[in-house]
Amino acid sequence: VSERNQREAQELEVVVGPVAHGGHCVARHDGRVVFVRHALPGERVTAVVTEERKGYLRADAVAVHEPSPDRVEPPCRYARPGGCGGCDFQHVTPAAQRALKATVVREQLRRLAGHDVPDLVVQPLPGGMLGWRSRVQYTVDSAGRLGFHAHRSTVVVPVERCLIASASVQPSVGSSGTGVVEAVASSGGDVSVYTRRSRMDSRVVPVTGPAEVRELAAGREWTVPADAFWQVHPAAPDVLADAVVSMLEPRPGERAWDLYGGVGLFAAALAPRLGPSGPITVVESDPASVDAARHNLADLPQIRVVRADVAKALANPRWRRVDLVVLDPPRSGAGRDVVRAILAREPRAVAYVACDPAAFARDVRTFHEAGWRLTELRAYDAFPMTHHVESVGLFSLHSSSNA
Ligand SMILES: C[S@@+](CC[C@H](N)C(=O)[O-])C[C@H]1O[C@@H](n2cnc3c(N)ncnc32)[C@H](O)[C@@H]1O
Repeated sequence: VSERNQREAQELEVVVGPVAHGGHCVARHDGRVVFVRHALPGERVTAVVTEERKGYLRADAVAVHEPSPDRVEPPCRYARPGGCGGCDFQHVTPAAQRALKATVVREQLRRLAGHDVPDLVVQPLPGGMLGWRSRVQYTVDSAGRLGFHAHRSTVVVPVERCLIASASVQPSVGSSGTGVVEAVASSGGDVSVYTRRSRMDSRVVPVTGPAEVRELAAGREWTVPADAFWQVHPAAPDVLADAVVSMLEPRPGERAWDLYGGVGLFAAALAPRLGPSGPITVVESDPASVDAARHNLADLPQIRVVRADVAKALANPRWRRVDLVVLDPPRSGAGRDVVRAILAREPRAVAYVACDPAAFARDVRTFHEAGWRLTELRAYDAFPMTHHVESVGLFSLHSSSNA
């Protein structure tokens, strides 16, 4: 390959097409699909190829010849080709970010579940686009500086300041070691920092701050292990809990399951509506979260917290009667077996809280195949500046579909 051809293979001029799941837009060049980051639909850009795969290329827009009206100067200086891989949409107006996310959720549902949601709107959460992130995972580079990985790379981009992170969890929180530094700023006012040798390492070494942080949500104060799951956006727990309760319309005495329950946020939100005669079972596999759920919900004796894998718990035929199910699985989704096992119990309604639209859409398909319908869908911008989006779907067997 001549030097000139090599240069041509690396730099492409393309007109950018629609957004796709993952923080990029789709373009075509010489009949090949190109996933272009740092671009917007309709723009004509020069893009540098960052990865060549069998059926497609990945590329970063490095020069914009015809900018979209939705384009803005990224507020963060690290949000650029080759820079920090944490944010995908710093170059996009807030309203257009939410429109892109709505398009992605709609497209995933249409493609993977054959389901149309023409007027889906992604709603903003209170608090603006910057300074919202209450939990940050920094990687330490070889010089001991805190930073983030470049996109799809192990290269660490050191940062002095992360604009989407809360002021209390900036890189100045420091660390004593190598590997990963995690910092938490809780809604109850605590700041905790701890380290891990790697992202996969489950053993954490505390650096500063309490081992358990106070969080405020669902009208309660919670004590949560600093390294346990809690929503990253400080407004998300209340917004999601309100959505779940208003969609399920719990009635006194109904039985509920809070699956993938964490420390029991949704169980606590349902309890006042179900009343003391409405038993709730929380299922969670992480031992520390289970302990925290039992401790935090000790004043609500109608709530039982079970430490188990959800699929294994549902395989137990003695788990029979349930009216309402909340399902908040990790990014991989609940999966066919779990969805089928839930529907076999014929609950009145299921609320599904989803952080990945593709996994959600695959599970929607399983609901549909079993004769259930997605009757309502809400979506929230719980991760401004990134491509991530949180959705809450309501499923029922007997209701006519209006979603
Ligand atoms: C997205 S979080 C939701 C937590 C909680 N609903 C909340 O809003 O705070 C998912 C939770 O599922 C738990 N988990 C992951 N896989 C699981 C499984 N197979 N069975 C039970 N729990 C699981 C994780 O430990 C985590 O607490």
